[in-house]
Amino acid sequence: MRHLLRDDDLSPEEQAAVLRLALEVKAEPHARQPLAGPRTVAVLFDKSSTRTRVSFSVGIADLGGSALILDSAGTQVGRGEPIPDTARVLGRMVSAIVWRTHAQSGLEQMAEHSGVPVVNALSEEAHPCQLLADWLTLLEHFGSLAGLTVAYVGDGANNMAHSYLLGGATAGMHVRVGAPEGFAPWDSIVADAERIAATTGGSVAVLTDPVETVRGADVVITDTWISMGHEQEREQRLTTFQPYSVTSDLVAHAHADAVVLHCLPAYRGLEIAADVIDGPRSLVWDEAENRLHAQKALLVWLLERSGATTSPLGT
Ligand code: CP
Ligand code: NVA
Repeated sequence: MRHLLRDDDLSPEEQAAVLRLALEVKAEPHARQPLAGPRTVAVLFDKSSTRTRVSFSVGIADLGGSALILDSAGTQVGRGEPIPDTARVLGRMVSAIVWRTHAQSGLEQMAEHSGVPVVNALSEEAHPCQLLADWLTLLEHFGSLAGLTVAYVGDGANNMAHSYLLGGATAGMHVRVGAPEGFAPWDSIVADAERIAATTGGSVAVLTDPVETVRGADVVITDTWISMGHEQEREQRLTTFQPYSVTSDLVAHAHADAVVLHCLPAYRGLEIAADVIDGPRSLVWDEAENRLHAQKALLVWLLERSGATTSPLGT
């Protein structure tokens, strides 16, 4: 049984295979039907979502299946039912579980007890589905990933920064995170990314100077300064992160052909300037669309390895 709880649940070869599959699935959206029946995938949300909700819903239907979209506030999970009990019940009825939640430990319990593949649709620690979509976007743009220099500036202690570190090291990329003091990525994530990078030819750097972070980079990335769950820190964060705003002046320090990513939702005038996200270097709309294709590929890949597929067409 395979799961995607963190980006480094996929080896370098496996990440590359999922991305190749994503290109195939994008070219032929209905060729693979591993959920024909239809079989059901539960998609649970403890937090808000637009892209994740829609892309899983559409993607599961494209794969022949039925998406059961649940806001956990309306389930017994929201009233404190133990996660292992919920996992056992869901696993008897659905073919996979996708969950947007707070703690990584909840996802680990769900994976341990459900008996079906579990996908992290965003936690405090990582956002590996977004990472796959981002790398698919870069693969389409640059033709390959290994050796690219990716510069992320802003909140280094959030899920996206962690996913870029882990997923970038896995792909053999050079990942730089530029964040203010107190907002560096978690030490354990940096250590894991360094260990992976040592095997792939990639590298990891944690910096504080935004200009140094983006200098010569092929890709400049940012994310909201106020991730879900941190709303009460808004005023302090707006002040602390202001020097890390991705403006055209900052992007001018990157490679002349650099592109810009943002997982969305974006807050123009804060973490990114309107003329950057809406400008010619921005790939954000391809990036958002690629959530659909990358996640379909991921589900195909996980279902094939869980022994849970009906005879899929086109395989
Ligand atoms: N990027 C992302 O995960 O978007 P949503 O929060 O809208 O799902
Ligand atoms: N870091 C953001 C990502 C949103 C898709 C958050 O956790 O809110």
